[in-house]
Amino acid sequence: MDIYQALKKDHDEIKSLLDELVTIREDDDFRFILIEQIRDLLIPHARAEESVFYNSLRAVNADRKVVYHGFQEHMEAEALLRSLQVMDKMNFSWKATAEKLRNALLHHIEDEETEIFAEARAAFTKDEAESMCDAFEQLKPKVLEEGFMKNTADMIINMMPPRLADKIRSIGENRP
Ligand SMILES: [Fe+2]
Ligand SMILES: [Fe+2]
Repeated sequence: MDIYQALKKDHDEIKSLLDELVTIREDDDFRFILIEQIRDLLIPHARAEESVFYNSLRAVNADRKVVYHGFQEHMEAEALLRSLQVMDKMNFSWKATAEKLRNALLHHIEDEETEIFAEARAAFTKDEAESMCDAFEQLKPKVLEEGFMKNTADMIINMMPPRLADKIRSIGENRP
């Protein structure tokens, strides 16, 4: 399997959970489970995608605008997901936010599978695309284990220029 197939597989799973979320009734308790499933798929996917795929694209000087646009859309989607989780706990109406999240992610996935994949296919060899897939799959369960705070820090570090990102990462690792 290569990185494109691995990313697409996650995208398809996320899309079908989002479809389910926007079609259930507003008072259906199954929403708690669906929102959690979306979070547990989306956050590890996004962090591993940034670390392995986006950062490799930046390393080979792919079009910066395309990659930064992707980072930005991750932040927007995650902000929507967080407000959805809060609303859900406080029993506010959550349907409109769920629809916004679905639309934002459908748009983001479409951008990734067209523009970003095209950029990557021009930049990476077949072997590189396969090794990226292994790295991506290995990183995802780690993100899930590490929890939310570390995750936000990683999102920010992933957006730094690579040589600064490595510095910041090593500071974090040496902390007692
Ligand atoms: Fe993705
Ligand atoms: Fe993404």
